[in-house]
Amino acid sequence: MKIAGSTVLLTGANGGIGRAIAHALAARGADLIVSGRRAEALRSAMSGLSVRTVVADLAEAADVERLAEEAGNVDILIANGALPASGALLDYTPEQIDRSLTVNLRSQIMLCRLLAPAMSEAGRGHIVLVGSLSGKTASPAASLYNATKFGLRGFAHGFRQDLHGTGVGVSVVQPGFVRDAGMFAATGAAPPGKVRTVSPEQVATGTIRAIEHDRAEVDVAPAELRLGSSIAGLFPALAARVQRLALKDGALERIVAGQRHNR
Ligand SMILES: NC(=O)c1ccc[n+]([C@@H]2O[C@H](COP(=O)([O-])OP(=O)(O)OC[C@H]3O[C@@H](n4cnc5c(N)ncnc54)[C@H](OP(=O)(O)O)[C@@H]3O)[C@@H](O)[C@H]2O)c1
Repeated sequence: MKIAGSTVLLTGANGGIGRAIAHALAARGADLIVSGRRAEALRSAMSGLSVRTVVADLAEAADVERLAEEAGNVDILIANGALPASGALLDYTPEQIDRSLTVNLRSQIMLCRLLAPAMSEAGRGHIVLVGSLSGKTASPAASLYNATKFGLRGFAHGFRQDLHGTGVGVSVVQPGFVRDAGMFAATGAAPPGKVRTVSPEQVATGTIRAIEHDRAEVDVAPAELRLGSSIAGLFPALAARVQRLALKDGALERIVAGQRHNR
């Protein structure tokens, strides 16, 4: 689908990856509607860009509906906003569990439910759900994040089939560990097992590719991580054994500690 001249709603626009996606879309001539929870952070992340802003909390069902309503008819939805949802499930309160599931999975599904009908009627549109390789490989201290990202991947592929023939494509874009900015980089921790990272700009490029070429799934990660996650999807018990051996450097614990405030 052509991006120039299309109206795009992007959530999580003030985050590390969202900011890179917004700038890449603006460079291609998209009309941007950006959303996030914090108005000031959104303003500063979008400085220099001409955008319309809608502040909304994806944890609140009414806010998600208002966001869709205020955005109006959009050609492209990029559901990118999410919480890290890291750490042991047994450390989570019921309210924190609900928030993780709502922000990372329910809000994306609802935005699709609310925005896809107009796209389908127009016979033209695209939806990108920003998932993670954690939607293909489970890992320690990530069961909630895994639940939401596996769920998002399943939803993306199922919804894509439902919309087949309508002119509306659905993609899931799945980054590995992202350096420089975003929920992993903000912890200051090294990647577990010293795996290689990608930049936010590479994720933005993958997102653009998904839209322009109507790709069902785009993994944005070094080759070894892409291959590893595919094998892990086939052999999860083997993957768990490998991870137990590889993840002894304390990096995982540092990531969880750095994301704890954001549950
Ligand atoms: N960074 C990585 O290594 C990595 C790897 C794989 C996948 N991903 C995925 O990439 C996407 C973007 O992540 P990121 O690294 O850019 O994270 P980030 O820098 O933490 O940004 C997250 C964004 O989501 C928004 N958000 C969080 N809770 C929200 C809520 N309740 N309501 C509305 N907005 C909310 C944040 O807005 P506020 O700041 O205003 O709260 C922020 O704009 C996520 O889906 C993430 O799971 C990231």
